[in-house]
Amino acid sequence: MTRKRTAILISGHGSNMRSLIEAASEPAYPAEIVLVLSNRPEAQGLAVAKERGIATAAVDHRIYTGRENFEASLQVLLELHRVELICLAGFMRLLTPSFVRLWEGRMINIHPALLPAYRGLHTHERALADGAKIHGCTVHFVVPAMDEGPIIAQAPVAVLEDDTPETLARRVLAEEHRLYPAALAAVASERIKLAGGRVIFADPSDPLARPPGAR
Ligand code: GRF
Repeated sequence: MTRKRTAILISGHGSNMRSLIEAASEPAYPAEIVLVLSNRPEAQGLAVAKERGIATAAVDHRIYTGRENFEASLQVLLELHRVELICLAGFMRLLTPSFVRLWEGRMINIHPALLPAYRGLHTHERALADGAKIHGCTVHFVVPAMDEGPIIAQAPVAVLEDDTPETLARRVLAEEHRLYPAALAAVASERIKLAGGRVIFADPSDPLARPPGAR
């Protein structure tokens, strides 16, 4: 099995990046993290990746005149490192439809909510304000519209009576760290395919096809 050459795009803390790097440190894991890119030179995640011996680069969006030029620099680095898959992990820049189309079916994202609920920011605050009982996270293929795209996997998290946005975020993040490596493995090992805009599992009993706790 050849491991899929994977880049992770971050903007900040990079805890999801860390969980992906950790999973990929297993030789049997179907993806290899070959590059970590950040649009913010100060992102803490860059130092962590460097320590792990992974190639890193900061492409500071503020020095570019337009999104296209910024993305052209990203693309040069992705090609240089012969990247096959991209994981967005807390990457806080909107990508243009043409860049997204270039990576169609090869770029995935994690979102801290059960999509299509709570697209965008402040998902935990909004779920609490609505009195939601179930919240969670989603890994999906990236399409031009923000926080949309075929869903690969989801993990539910129960909302507790005394939750604050911070306590809820902590439990969702713990699920993200479990879900993202599992979802990347499914994509990298081609256990799933895209058909008619939906994700189909080669094996319907694939554990990822049915989240634990769902009846
Ligand atoms: C995560 O909650 C992720 O779902 C969202 O941004 C946050 C990034 O956290 N897209 P980290 O940088 O991975 O720690």
